[in-house]
Amino acid sequence: MYAEELKTYYPLHYCPVDVDRRVLPLLFPELLLFVSPSPLCCSSWWGGVQMGPPDPILGVSEAFKRDTSPKKMNLGVGAYRDDHGKPFVLDCVRKAEALIASKQLDKEYLAIGGLGDFTKSCAQLALGADSEVLKSGRNITVQTISGTGSLCIGANFLSRFHSASRDVYLPKPSWGNHTPIFRDAGMQLKAYRYYDPSTCGFDFNGALDDISKMPEKSVIMLHACAHNPTGVDPKPEQWKEIADLVKKRDLLVFFDMAYQGFASGDIDRDAWAVRHFIEQGHKIVLSQSFAKNMGLYGERVGGFTVVCNDAEEAKRVESQLKILIRPMYSNPPMNGARIAATILNTPDLYKIWLEEVHGMANRIIKMREQLAANLKNEGSTLDWQHVIDQIGMFCFTGLKPEQVERLTKEFSVYMTKDGRISMAGVTSSNVGYLAHGIHAVTK
Ligand code: LMR
Repeated sequence: MYAEELKTYYPLHYCPVDVDRRVLPLLFPELLLFVSPSPLCCSSWWGGVQMGPPDPILGVSEAFKRDTSPKKMNLGVGAYRDDHGKPFVLDCVRKAEALIASKQLDKEYLAIGGLGDFTKSCAQLALGADSEVLKSGRNITVQTISGTGSLCIGANFLSRFHSASRDVYLPKPSWGNHTPIFRDAGMQLKAYRYYDPSTCGFDFNGALDDISKMPEKSVIMLHACAHNPTGVDPKPEQWKEIADLVKKRDLLVFFDMAYQGFASGDIDRDAWAVRHFIEQGHKIVLSQSFAKNMGLYGERVGGFTVVCNDAEEAKRVESQLKILIRPMYSNPPMNGARIAATILNTPDLYKIWLEEVHGMANRIIKMREQLAANLKNEGSTLDWQHVIDQIGMFCFTGLKPEQVERLTKEFSVYMTKDGRISMAGVTSSNVGYLAHGIHAVTK
């Protein structure tokens, strides 16, 4: 109607619909009479919304889907594939699903903090069955919407209650989503040195130097294992020094453990840093995800834990976590939590799971070796030892953005711009092609 009326009554002011009509009253104030009392009523509500960039990680998958090359490889998102390049549903998950289905359980709401059987075993998996924290009940663990949801709850909890400091120090680089999660929660983002491009390894001295200068009570984000995106972890001796220094600086540690089991293939070994910090008296907060180690990506299962001074404090923290969660999504979804809880609490399934985690980690290690060997066979004279040395799902190749761009354009190999590749997408049949492409853009 608006356009029609304009055309009829104000032919001089009529303009095609794609012109932003909000400027018209500025040019022709008499129009205000015509459109009054609501001058914007027929223009778009969202005319001022700018087009945003695609997500740096998930956007890669979207571009991959549009590519029609039969040789295309998606090494962007960190999602495990079997050696045929297919998504992998763990056998223990299939068995747990069958067990759950046989019980004909109801679909009532979960509690705000999630499924009790899940949260208990989730904390136990991270802290260890003999953990003093668990025995004394001085932790609170809530079920979250995978790792991202956990970080989001954590960031908002800090924003509301960690009044001593707004500063969150992320390793440089860190997982791309850490930045918006903490920023949107109102925290101040800072960084500490972590990755040394000259060695493609851990910048231990740089990290210690930066940590020693962090203002007391700041928050420090530590990747518990299989650092994303670099695949570079501190060694136990280095973790010990970091723990001591962090204590000296009186920093609040936020552990992100999204890959427990994926670094070494052993879930206890991968939780070593978390357990060491707790043994040293650190009262950490911890995010966990079951996306990778149980392959429960789309089920969105995770946990957020706060280690407190005592059980009474844990109760108070729990009450506030519930207050935070309730208006966000009321209570978490049950299916994935039931699957994870069934695996963690059924000895036969737990055993299968440990073997499967080991199997996934081993396949990735094999692909690392094959990629380095194939690069050598291609005639590359560059040092690719870091491909083998880095651990976990990702390899931080050292490729520059323009090399990444060529690899995508000329070889249909999709990866994030920072040069990270998900080793989980590499298989026995495409590793040669990948090496060929990498050599072509780096020689
Ligand atoms: C990744 O880094 O690729 C994964 O953690 C998936 C994600 O959501 O970014």
